[in-house]
Amino acid sequence: MTEPIVMKGLGKDYGTFTALGSLDLTIPAGTCFGFLGPNGAGKSTTIKILTNLIRPSRGQAALFGVDVQRKPTQALRKVGTVIETPEFYGYLSPLEVLAYAGRLRGMSKAALAARSEAVLKTVKLTGWGDKRVDTFSKGMKQRLAVAQALLHEPDLLILDEPTSGLDPRGMAEVRDIVKSLKREGRTIFMSSHLLGEVTEVCDAAALIDHGKLLLQGTLDELAKRAEATLFQAVFLAPLNPDELVWIGGLPGVKSATDSGNGVVEIHLSGGPEVQAAVISAIVRSGLPLTAFRPVGTALEQLYLEQIKETAQ
Ligand SMILES: Nc1ncnc2c1ncn2[C@@H]1O[C@H](COP(=O)(O)OP(=O)(O)OP(=O)(O)O)[C@@H](O)[C@H]1O
Ligand SMILES: [Mg+2]
Repeated sequence: MTEPIVMKGLGKDYGTFTALGSLDLTIPAGTCFGFLGPNGAGKSTTIKILTNLIRPSRGQAALFGVDVQRKPTQALRKVGTVIETPEFYGYLSPLEVLAYAGRLRGMSKAALAARSEAVLKTVKLTGWGDKRVDTFSKGMKQRLAVAQALLHEPDLLILDEPTSGLDPRGMAEVRDIVKSLKREGRTIFMSSHLLGEVTEVCDAAALIDHGKLLLQGTLDELAKRAEATLFQAVFLAPLNPDELVWIGGLPGVKSATDSGNGVVEIHLSGGPEVQAAVISAIVRSGLPLTAFRPVGTALEQLYLEQIKETAQ
């Protein structure tokens, strides 16, 4: 029972609006866990409860076996957090920011000096320690926020959309840092609305939307559960309307839509068997099929599908 994070029946209402229903989720030690969901899913709400910034309306959250609401200081002692885009006073330098954070944590001067250098190195800000933060790019500020979260050598890092608002290079830099922390064996709980980011960085994930847990598992498990249903069929020449209607009527085909240039988007209702039957029917009909491929990965399709279902 000393898992880094255990949530039991965790929920939050804002007035009559339920932002988070009743979340049960356990994050095992050493995992880099992606907390995936679209805008408004309830990710930040969950993270704010975990870090004691807001109180839950129901349920419990425990960090390393310690209840967050009852003993917040103890529960958060081994935890580093980056919540939303942090603001720093522009006239401060990273070393000053870290010194302030270190004093709050009760660190000695010697420990602070050693750790400051180490964390700035981890986030690739060596050499920037005494520059003013207001000269920093957004990506550098975000990396400084990660450095601050790492100062007291936490066993668990909780990151709320750490790459949000960064340009592609900034995103890649933050992802690389998360990957290096993962290699050090730290437990990471990271929210994101980007499936690609979660599959790149994390080894397990939960998908939430409208305050509900929809799926969870290791990425391998999720990939196995996912079955591609949306395909692109490419033909030598555009199909005529009759041919399109004919494809739409094949067994297992939910819809067939012309996307131009001889490309038809086909939504199937079954797995690989249906896929095989549809391909073979098209080929037998003599239509000049040159390619038949899934649109994106099966996991991407599952993500979009799940989100669509809960929206209805
Ligand atoms: N203080 C508040 N008062 C009322 N409603 C709120 C409050 N905070 C959040 N909400 C609502 O709760 C829902 C969940 O919000 P939350 O911030 O947890 O989503 P999120 O998954 O972090 O989304 P995003 O990707 O946009 O950051 C949203 O519909 C939001 O509008
Ligand atoms: Mg959020």
